[in-house]
Formats: sequence, C-alpha cells, structure tokens
Amino acid sequence: MDKFTIDGNRRLTGQVGISGSKNAALPIMAAVLASDGPLHLSGVPDLVDVHSLLSLLETLGVDSQYGDDGQLRLLVQTRQPHVAHYDLVRRMRASICVLGPLLARRGRARVSLPGGCNIGHRPIDLHLKGLAALGADIRVEQGYVIATAERLCGASIFLGGPCGSTVTGTCNLMSAATLAEGRTVIEAAACEPEVVDLGECLRKMGAHIDGLGTPRIEIEGVSQLGGATHRVIPDRIEAATLMIAAAITGGHVEIAPIRPDHLVAVREVLEQTGVRIETSTGCDSLASLVTTAPPVLAPTTLTALPYPGIPTDVQAQLMALLSRADGISVITDKVFPDRFLHAAELGRLGARIVREGPTAVIHGVPRLSGANVMASDLRASAALVLAGLAAEGTTTVRRIYHLDRGYERLDTKLNQLGGQVIRSEDKPVATPPHWATPASHLAIDG
Ligand code: UD1
Repeated sequence: MDKFTIDGNRRLTGQVGISGSKNAALPIMAAVLASDGPLHLSGVPDLVDVHSLLSLLETLGVDSQYGDDGQLRLLVQTRQPHVAHYDLVRRMRASICVLGPLLARRGRARVSLPGGCNIGHRPIDLHLKGLAALGADIRVEQGYVIATAERLCGASIFLGGPCGSTVTGTCNLMSAATLAEGRTVIEAAACEPEVVDLGECLRKMGAHIDGLGTPRIEIEGVSQLGGATHRVIPDRIEAATLMIAAAITGGHVEIAPIRPDHLVAVREVLEQTGVRIETSTGCDSLASLVTTAPPVLAPTTLTALPYPGIPTDVQAQLMALLSRADGISVITDKVFPDRFLHAAELGRLGARIVREGPTAVIHGVPRLSGANVMASDLRASAALVLAGLAAEGTTTVRRIYHLDRGYERLDTKLNQLGGQVIRSEDKPVATPPHWATPASHLAIDG
C-alpha cells in the first residue's frame, strides 16, 4: 500500500494534461457485452478501476487489448458466462454496469450486489426497478441479483429517487433498452456528460437513442448492436481537481484537453472565490483552460447537485479550498448527504469545519499545517492531497490506493507543476480509525 509525502506551501504553475474520464469509460466498456462487434476505444485512463473492470469482463468472455496510450480494443469471444462474482464486483461499485447489457444480450445475468461504501448509503433499487419495468424477472438471493428475460420489452421508466436520478442506473437501463423490443422512455434520467458519452458510443454501435443530456431519454430497440470506434470524453472531475490545485496554492495552471461546457458550475463557484479562469477553444469542442488564483480566496456557499450542478465528486476538493478562504463558507451535498469523512481529516491540517447533517460550515483559516492524514475514499484522498499542497510543512496521506482508482498519475502531474509529492510504500497502520475498514471488504466509488 502506498502513501504520499507532500512538502507543501509551493505555488503550482505550468501546463498539465487531462486524462479520459473514468466514469465515462467504465459503462462504455461494460456496453461491449451488448454488442456483436469489436469496440475500439481511445482515451481510456490507466487506472485501477479500469483494470478491475477488464478482469471482470474477461470472466464474462470478453477479450481485451489495452495499449499504452489509452487505446482499448474489446471483443466478446463467448456468450456463455453470465455470472459477475463477488470477488471482482466488490472491488468497484461501477461493476454493476455489466448487469443491463449482460441481461439484454444473454437473457440472463447473475451479478453480485456491490455492497458497502464509504461515501454513504448506495442502493441499486432504481436499477432493478427499471430492469423489472423492461420485463426482467429479478430476484436477490445470497447477495446476488439474478435477472432473466428472454427478450426485454420497451417500457416507460421513472428513475427519480430521494437524491435525484442515478448515473450508473441510467447507464444500465439505457444499455439494456437498446436491445429491447419496442420503445423505452426513461423519465428523470441522469443528464451527466458521462451518460451522454455512453449514449453517443451506443449510437455508433447502432442504437437509436434520443434526448441524451436531458431528463427524458427515448430509445427505440434494435435487434443487434455492432462494433464502434469512440474517444472517451476528458475527465471533468480530474480537471476540476487540478483547477482547485492551482487555486489553493496561489498558482497559475493551464489544463487541456477539457470540455468547457462540462465545467460551467465548477467555474462559477471558483470565480465566486476570486479565482480567474480563461478558456481558449480548440477543435472538436475541446479547449484549454487557465486558472489563476487570487491573493486571498473569498468564502462562498455551494450545494452539490446532479448535473449541471456542482458535482458531488468535487465537493471534498472544494471543502479543502474553502478551508483557506477569508471568511465562512457553507457546503451542502444533496447527492450523497453523508459524504463528509474528509472533514475530520482536513481538521488535522488545521481546517475548521463543523458538520450538521448534509451541510458543513467551514471557517476559513489563514494557513494550514502539515500532518499525517488518512484517505477514506477517492475524492476525499484528492481533497487531502490538495490541502497538503497548500499546507506549511510536510503532510503524509495514507491509503493512496483510493486515489489510484480514479486519478491517472496524479503525483506525477502535480510534480510537473512544481509540487513536491513523493510516493512510497507504507506499512499497515496498527490501529485504523473506525471508518477505515480494509478495502477488501468494501466496494468503493466516487
Ligand atoms: C456515479 C459516479 C460517482 C458519482 C455519482 C453521483 C460512476 C462510476 N460513479 O455513481 O462518481 O459520485 O454518480 O454523481 O459513474 N440512489 C438510489 N437508488 C439507486 C441508485 C442511486 O437511491 O438505485 C441514490 C444514491 O444513494 C445517491 C444518488 O441516488 O444518493 C445518486 O447516486 P448515483 O447517481 O446512482 O451514483 P452512482 O451512479 O453509483
């Protein structure tokens, strides 16, 4: 297990590249299970989660070739397997994305329930409700979802839940409905760019999908999907994290490629803190973006919401930033109202944060000071690294495997910008805090 040792209080400057989106790549890779042709992807990030899904797809009969530069070729070799085992699914919640395409193409699927998670309660009831509406027979037995359907039938599905729509649920149902007989309408569909990217790829495979990026997606089922070539969108969460790295260190950083339209809410909130952001457009709606920090950060109030709101996956990093602002900020998370484990760890660096239900009140402090901290999940790890970059002295962030699940070479990228982040092997901690359940027992995400 690795840790980061960060020598903080260094201004980040320079240019850095943004990788392909993890949350777009995973459901797109799973969609190969619904297709009869090869899927050629580019921009697939080299991440632990990507390799976990490749291992799972292999057990489901998919042959894969992953190249150095994010090129991935997937092709189904055999359609016999239909079981996604617990040992592979527990590594990553997004494994549930195999359920829809597997059931739609093979008529049966037995997929382990993803299990516990560090960022709050994460049921899959909406995924199952949707598949049942498409005519699947669904049972949950011995920790597995067992789904069967000779052929799915188009239906009208409402996907709204207590915290909004579901991103991976929309992906699952959209993939499944492409092969259903007749028309499917998904109401209260997730509008996230990652859902749109999956939809674009499915279209290239021959699916008929309308309404991508809106809460009403309409799908006219086809009898077969073919191969496709597709480039995964840039990772808007990595982009936001690096913009915040520039802002929290008083820096000046250019990132590319990005999709400016995917970063509107993050840009808005950063500008409220006094950060200056300039975009220059390139080709294919891709752009570069320069973030310049102000001398003093202003406090602000924000709420993490489904897209196009501020992403819950950037909430922790914004909390790290606002812990340095000159005044009181308020953050509410309406997507994962319990996602606040990072608040206590940020406190170890000197941040003053009080949590009340789904809201945290942050009393900005003029300086943070380096300390030993423990990452609890993917985005919390990023927040601690950002705080460590800004803190005076040395910060050690343990359990960096969380970070490696979702950020491609973050330490290398930060060092390229003038950061001092050293990766080294860590020895197990003798008495972990109550939430630091060993990774082997949890399916983690974010
Ligand atoms: C995806 C992202 C994750 C991001 C999250 C919200 C991937 C691989 N992960 O996770 O990084 O933080 O979207 O943007 O893309 N819910 C239900 N019932 C369900 C499903 C979800 O009540 O069946 C609730 C969840 O508990 C949560 C909210 O809906 O409160 C949103 O969850 P969801 O969009 O499903 O998150 P994921 O797709 O798992």
